[in-house]
Amino acid sequence: MDSFVIQGGYRLEGTIRVHGSKNASLPLLAAALLTEEPVVFRDVPDLADIQNMLRLLAELGCERQDEPGQSGAIGNPVTLRSENESQSHARYDIVRTMRASICTLGPMLARRGSARISMPGGCAIGDRPVDLHLRGLAALGAEISLEGGDIIAKAPPGGRLRGDTIFLGGPFGSTVLGTANVMSAATLAECITIIESAACEPEIVDLANLLRKMGAKITGAGSPRITIEGVESLGRADHAVIPDRIEAGTFMCAAAITGGAVTIENCPIDTLLAAIDRLEHAGVHIETTDGTDPLHATCRVSADRVLKPIEITTQPHPGFPTDLQAQFMALLSLAGGNSVITERIFTERFLHVAELGRMGAHLFRAGSTVVVSGVKQLTGAPVMASDLRASACLVLAGLAAEGTTTINRVYHLDRGYERLEERLRPLGARIERVGESV
Ligand code: EPZ
Repeated sequence: MDSFVIQGGYRLEGTIRVHGSKNASLPLLAAALLTEEPVVFRDVPDLADIQNMLRLLAELGCERQDEPGQSGAIGNPVTLRSENESQSHARYDIVRTMRASICTLGPMLARRGSARISMPGGCAIGDRPVDLHLRGLAALGAEISLEGGDIIAKAPPGGRLRGDTIFLGGPFGSTVLGTANVMSAATLAECITIIESAACEPEIVDLANLLRKMGAKITGAGSPRITIEGVESLGRADHAVIPDRIEAGTFMCAAAITGGAVTIENCPIDTLLAAIDRLEHAGVHIETTDGTDPLHATCRVSADRVLKPIEITTQPHPGFPTDLQAQFMALLSLAGGNSVITERIFTERFLHVAELGRMGAHLFRAGSTVVVSGVKQLTGAPVMASDLRASACLVLAGLAAEGTTTINRVYHLDRGYERLEERLRPLGARIERVGESV
């Protein structure tokens, strides 16, 4: 297992470009299951999760039509075509490595009339139930059963789902991948589907944009109410994945925590207004130098020498994203005062707290809230990555800490950040990837 070794204390300066969104790409690629026509995807990030999704889709008969990039990299564009619909079982040994495999359920059910997918387990950030997904698909007429750890979904006799009005809200707000599943399935259902309390995340808007290119009739994506008028079939499309807002927010934190000045290209600032609001309240300066397209903007990020403490509560979009909570905790560990961070989406998403504490951060957790008492300096230490965004938090802390930080198990990071060490080094980061000593 690879590790990162970081020499902290160097300001980041220069330009970095945001890549395509992991969390948009996964349901987008799964949407290729909705048609027998080829679907072309551009700006797909070269990440472990994407490799896993392509492997799963190939097993489900949705094969890549073009050649992968050099030396096994994903390469762009990615052209998928679902021609063999005989195998519709998403097996446990793939699903257990990537719970987002669940987003193949809705498309397969809608197009093929049945699907079998291993029930995703929990993960480091907590239980990851799929009850809302199943409730939504059952409302479209699917017969859902559980057998041997697998979800088995069958369309009504005749093979076509039937639209309905569905409330998709849960105790923690809506569900992003649940909305993706139900919206995708509804595109081929009879009649009209209304999803009330739909997820409003930009990744849902991007998926709706692809589905409309394929011939779907969808209005309201990005709002809590999405309306889908079912059609008989969907066709080919060519679609560029939106930039990754969480990667962009992570880079903003990297510029701020090192006291640097970084220009971020291909930055989806329009999807980051809550995070930008919090950064600016803390004393981070974000100047949009090219905002012609607010989903592909250029901005320059710098920060006051000592940040001000702030309050953060994670919420569904357009609120503050839970996927930036860990990164902001690293940043605020060096603020001049006490910040308060409350996690409302995944209330156990605090595995990074103990590791940051090993680096000298003063953190006090009470349930789903952490008080971050700012310190003057973090100190490098050997730490353990536990999940994707906790890993990013530790990289940020290592960049700012005095001395050497070794982050073990960076495979967690590789799931969501493409060759991060190679992209930070040109900005002045002293970061190396070291393989496991044999
Ligand atoms: C997506 O996960 C993202 N993953 C997550 O990003 C992100 O943290 C999450 O949305 C919230 O924004 C992808 O898009 C691949 P949810 P998803 O269903 O859709 C509860 C990252 O770091 N819930 O919106 O699986 C759930 O427990 C990852 O990139 C139910 O109760 O999340 C949680 O508390 C981590 N029942 C809340 O809703 C359900 O059926 C939001 O979960 C589904 C979810």
